[in-house]
Amino acid sequence: MLAPCHNAVVKRVLTGIKASGIPHLGNYYGAIRPALELAARADVQGLFFIADYHALTLIHDRAELDRLTREIAAAWLAFGLDPERVVFYRQSHVPEIFELAWILSCFTSKGQLNRAHAYKARVEEAQQKQLEPDALVDMGLFNYPVLMSADIVLFDCDVVPVGSDQLQQIEIARDIVGRVNHIYGEGVLHLPEGLCEDTALLPGLDGRKMSKSYGNTIPLFAPAKQLRKAVGRIVTDSTPPEVPKEPDASLIFQIFRLLAPPTDTAALRARYEAGIGWGDAKAALADLLERMLAEPRARYDELMAHPERLDALLAEGAARARQLAAPVMDRVRRAIGIAR
Ligand code: TRP
Repeated sequence: MLAPCHNAVVKRVLTGIKASGIPHLGNYYGAIRPALELAARADVQGLFFIADYHALTLIHDRAELDRLTREIAAAWLAFGLDPERVVFYRQSHVPEIFELAWILSCFTSKGQLNRAHAYKARVEEAQQKQLEPDALVDMGLFNYPVLMSADIVLFDCDVVPVGSDQLQQIEIARDIVGRVNHIYGEGVLHLPEGLCEDTALLPGLDGRKMSKSYGNTIPLFAPAKQLRKAVGRIVTDSTPPEVPKEPDASLIFQIFRLLAPPTDTAALRARYEAGIGWGDAKAALADLLERMLAEPRARYDELMAHPERLDALLAEGAARARQLAAPVMDRVRRAIGIAR
């Protein structure tokens, strides 16, 4: 939990969103909902951006990169990201990020990047295939942590909420900041902090973590009928309907209780204990999801049908982001001797 700030001190909180597929219910629960709750706080100034140039390390299909970027932007807006309150932009629209990335790379030790998890995983993959260690590595992947550091440092961010897999990247950013400030003076760059919340994992249809790579997801924006169908695929056993059931041992209930208001959860718990058929339990979950998702779905469809509105919103966000970036870039250019 981010501690509340007193004295009306506003913390700058930045969230980078990787453009990698339409988000599913697990993404909503684990990432979208907590980030939006944080951004809605009065003591938080939120910056949200789509890391489209980071996606270029993976996606080399023009149409796909364009589509993913739009889908992700529409998804966050559909769930209530308020582009008036937060600064919402595409990374590629803020050229200062890439200027700063070069500067930061001059203060990044190669040895540290050699130890980055994503890079090491690629080296291992090559070794398993009996290839040269770096055969599968391009410089985009290798420099990924430097670009991510620039994303953060450009806005004097205080806090970056991340999953535990991203903590190493924040450490790299902090080390770079330390090195620059050591040479040019404290305060040239602002030291960010990673915030890693341990939220419970939302299980997927088969009980493993809900994940695109397992094919066990519940979609967020599918039509009502398809949503119900997905819920119907949740794995159950052959206990007869009238037999009382332990709610917490049931996948349907485990998903339900993570999303529903406490009174609804208590009501469903009572039905389990009295004996509920799996079909009825699934209907209860499908009803809950339909109530949660009907509005976002309509907003999502609307946004996807009007790409020009999305583009306009993102252009406005980029203009605001560049305003915030300008004084920081000035400070950095002066400190290093590129500007007077
Ligand atoms: N690397 C992040 C991810 O994989 C996305 C990201 C890019 C990011 N730049 C960032 C996250 C800056 C936080 C801050 O999800």
